[in-house]
Amino acid sequence: LPSGGTNKFQEIKRRTREAEDKGVKIYRLSIGQPLGPALLSARKAAAEAVMSDNESMHEYQDNGSPGVPDFAQRFVAAHLRTSIKDKKVAYLPTPGSKSMLEIVILSCNLQEGELLGTMTDPGYPTPADQSEYLKVEHYALPTNQKNLFRFNTGDIKQDAKADQSTKLLMLNLPHNPTGQIATRKWLENLCSHCERHGIRLFNDNPYQLLSHTTRSWTLTDVAVNFPNLSWAEAFSASKIIGNGTGWRVGAIVGSEDFVADIATIKSNCDSGFAAPMAAGVLYAIENDRASIEAIQKTCAKRLKLLIDILSRHGIALAIKPWAGFFVLCKVPKVAFGQRIKDAEEFNYLMIENTGVVGVHFGHYIRYSVTGDIEAMEEALDIAFGKAGVMY
Ligand SMILES: Cc1ncc(COP(=O)(O)O)c(C=O)c1O
Repeated sequence: LPSGGTNKFQEIKRRTREAEDKGVKIYRLSIGQPLGPALLSARKAAAEAVMSDNESMHEYQDNGSPGVPDFAQRFVAAHLRTSIKDKKVAYLPTPGSKSMLEIVILSCNLQEGELLGTMTDPGYPTPADQSEYLKVEHYALPTNQKNLFRFNTGDIKQDAKADQSTKLLMLNLPHNPTGQIATRKWLENLCSHCERHGIRLFNDNPYQLLSHTTRSWTLTDVAVNFPNLSWAEAFSASKIIGNGTGWRVGAIVGSEDFVADIATIKSNCDSGFAAPMAAGVLYAIENDRASIEAIQKTCAKRLKLLIDILSRHGIALAIKPWAGFFVLCKVPKVAFGQRIKDAEEFNYLMIENTGVVGVHFGHYIRYSVTGDIEAMEEALDIAFGKAGVMY
């Protein structure tokens, strides 16, 4: 591999440690996972499952879930607004979503001139990174303040002259880092376009249950009504049962053709999830919904408070978040009395001068509310006040 390219998160951690060593008190608004353990209900159910004498709980689960029958159907159903029991769909349990992204790309077997469109600018970079590794031609769909970080069908590249056409879209809605969501109308328009143009549609959806609005729809709820659309959606337990990021449990649902292709590649890449952890997830999602809703409410309340604090000090949002635990802000032109080049410079200045840590994305900076914003309110007020930002 060529050398270089320090991982952004590792560099942020290094800068944070440096500031901490100089005595700066640190406020981590950079953390992308819920703090604390997974829900007690999930842990208890997983503990019971791991003590089970039933061999199916301990064996390879492969593309199924012998230890937790119908896991994927039941886990997916808990995310939906409508019943899809009578629809023609296929299911696949997964060990979380990240490792599935590469498998989704491979399952489409894209050839020269066949493009993959992503939501990675700004965004969770994995689909773009893995396309690089796989030498798949890819581009970031335009997502910016003007289009509220949701592209239009006219932005999907189709160029007959250049012999290039988009064959796969890998979306992420609700979106990390903007908190933008997919509405029913927007999804219907997109599904119809992709059905007509033979474009496969995939949505990476770990944040659905952290939506703070009733306008947030899953791709699944809408795509099931487009019989000729090839589509799939991945759900994950990582962010919804408290901190379940290390549990590695999720599921994919989609049209039979697409899920069959994903399953073929997946069967040659992994051996399935750990069944006892999936048993814990399923118990919580089916029997402890109140705790999951409480997590969602806490995120929404903290986001509101953080946005109040940011507004008090003139920090402009890129967009109001409707889901998840992130807020994306525009980087000011001036802070700490100096001109600011980009979000990276602003982030490191904030860390050095105030201890507030974010994650930079080009000209935007992301702050998370996984920590207790209420307890940090006074310190954050002082920190953002000290920055003295101007746009
Ligand atoms: C958009 C997005 N996709 C996938 C993941 C990873 O999910 P999982 O833990 O299921 O692999 C994350 C986690 O930060 C994410 O933000």
